[in-house]
Amino acid sequence: MSLRNGRHQLSIPGPSVIPDRVLNAMHRQMPNIYEGALADLADSVIADLPGVARTSGHAFIGICNGHGAWEMALSNTLSRGDRVLVLESGRFAVGWGEYARRLGIEVEVLNAPPRRGVSPAAVEARLREDSEHAIRAVLVVQVDTASSVWNDIAAIRRAIDAAGHPALYMVDCIASMGCVPFEMDAWGVDVTVGGAQKGLMVPPGIAFNWANQKALAAHREAGLRTAYWDWTPRMGEGEVYLRFAGTAPIPHLYGLREALDMIAEEGLENIWHRHAVLARAVRAAVAAWSAPGGLEFVIVDPEARADSVTTLYTNGVDASRLRRICEDEAGLTLGIGLGEQFSGKAFRIGHMGHLNPPMALGTLGTIEAALAAMAAPMTASGVAAASRVIAGEMAAGMVPELAKAGE
Ligand SMILES: Cc1ncc(COP(=O)(O)O)c(C=O)c1O
Repeated sequence: MSLRNGRHQLSIPGPSVIPDRVLNAMHRQMPNIYEGALADLADSVIADLPGVARTSGHAFIGICNGHGAWEMALSNTLSRGDRVLVLESGRFAVGWGEYARRLGIEVEVLNAPPRRGVSPAAVEARLREDSEHAIRAVLVVQVDTASSVWNDIAAIRRAIDAAGHPALYMVDCIASMGCVPFEMDAWGVDVTVGGAQKGLMVPPGIAFNWANQKALAAHREAGLRTAYWDWTPRMGEGEVYLRFAGTAPIPHLYGLREALDMIAEEGLENIWHRHAVLARAVRAAVAAWSAPGGLEFVIVDPEARADSVTTLYTNGVDASRLRRICEDEAGLTLGIGLGEQFSGKAFRIGHMGHLNPPMALGTLGTIEAALAAMAAPMTASGVAAASRVIAGEMAAGMVPELAKAGE
């Protein structure tokens, strides 16, 4: 007999839980696709998207997943034979590099130290060596969803500047946009790539590029532009058909409108803060569970642990069995270990997007129950540790009347 009936909890690092408001906004009949409300809607989301990336640059919506947005970014800014430097810190920057290679771009990979984030000093040293400026772009992810590392995007920009290198700085924020601080303009990012289905709380199917003036200048020279991905025809205001190189992704645009409204209502800083607190709660639980022969953080540097996803090595604990118990007995889906390094040896907790303490604590409590059911080694209660983090936040944020009542 299983306990799983009830509302299923999806705690993978994307797609994330979609708010009912977004789902309801998407459920509608198709409008006139050439003019009127749909054109206004497209204009409004394209006008509001730059705010989420903190840029005055231009936003483009691709009818695709994150992989499509990678290709859109590369093909609009680079030419066959160009060289890019990929800053590896897990799986996804390397995946992006692989897409570049398939487009005829020369790819060089600079590895991060094992289980740590990209080293800005190593980036600076490599770029200093490139005195001819053969490297046309630097590609990095802000959060690698496989390793759950967070890379310091501002520090890497300082490293590029210290080397005096003119390469385009291209950042994949698919697993971090709308979750952790990101300042495209202030940090000198030229191209940002995002997806709908994580922090932005919209089902998969649309993904984004943001481009600043430097990227748009590179675009004018880019030899890899294709009819479908080309940014230029997508820039005309009101031309809704051209903006999407065909029929618009209508339900997704309504969903995105609602999600952007929700983000504006809560405020990006509050969203970042909520993610930071819930991530601290998750990490407190993982630290309490950690034990010889049991679970441990993949990322050894506490400063480099992401606020949107946490990957745990399971060592002597069977990761697949743990996930199966959570899924089949309790209705909780956890993320698998991705790629050769993690498959069967790790699992991931997604803590991104539409998430609050009951959802996060429910996930942690269910994992803890499954660990106990498996007689897995644990040093202490992760739920108790996570609750203390939430309690601290509640006490700090309590409105005065509630604080008094508790005295
Ligand atoms: C950081 C990062 N980049 C790229 C992708 C690829 O996105 P998609 O699966 O939507 O193609 C993902 C997906 O998890 C991701 O986490």
